[in-house]
Amino acid sequence: MKTVVTALGGSLLRPEIEERDRWLFQLCVMVKKLVDGEIRIGLVVGGGSPARESISLVKTLINDVDALDRIGISATRLNATIIKEAMKEIGIEVPDEVPTNVEQAMIMMKKYPVVIMGGTFPGHTTDNVAIELAVASEASKCIVATNVSKVYDEDPKINKNAKSFDKLSHKELQQIVGPPEHLRAGKSQIVDPVGVQCALINNLILNILDGRDIENMKNAIENKSFRGTIVSE
Ligand code: UTP
Repeated sequence: MKTVVTALGGSLLRPEIEERDRWLFQLCVMVKKLVDGEIRIGLVVGGGSPARESISLVKTLINDVDALDRIGISATRLNATIIKEAMKEIGIEVPDEVPTNVEQAMIMMKKYPVVIMGGTFPGHTTDNVAIELAVASEASKCIVATNVSKVYDEDPKINKNAKSFDKLSHKELQQIVGPPEHLRAGKSQIVDPVGVQCALINNLILNILDGRDIENMKNAIENKSFRGTIVSE
């Protein structure tokens, strides 16, 4: 059975995403179809607005980066729980528990076609968790579903002339996102630099795309042509 792991950026669940309930329903339907087509799926969900909101509430009180990370992790698990319950509702077999580390997720992946989790430990984001899970489960690739269509050399919201890439090597992506250091809780890059390093070491293919377009995400998971950036050796 083919395995694909997807990092679902928490931004996809934020209130400003139009019709996010419809998006969530489409996501569930897509996962159901993929599972029926014998694809095993690991979904790693980001923290989105509950992470931002909780971290901003205490950021003037708490300086300890690990403590802020732990708050962020709780938010990722809340979002993972929301997606897990929505998937169950439409009849997808998922574990009742949200695994708290990659080893637990691996055990669950042996029994269930879909496993949904959030963060694990301080020091990285859910992108890195997804990349670690993809490596551990020998997935063919890791999809990083975010809210921009491709990787750009600069933030396209700030610079309208930023250049986008269809293909990059891991090293080229590393030049864009920077060295594998954990950014302060709640700050974000297109892909977590810690995860990029893990993908580089393990030579794992990444597909970075806009997760708002469910059909596009499905195409990437099924190895069909899709709009986004392919990161490979
Ligand atoms: P996210 O994975 O959502 O990170 O985790 P992000 O890139 O900052 O958020 P988006 O995708 O742009 O919305 C939220 C925060 O939770 C902590 C980090 O502080 C991260 O910034 N976290 C998450 C961890 O410390 N470890 C984990 O395994 C996951």
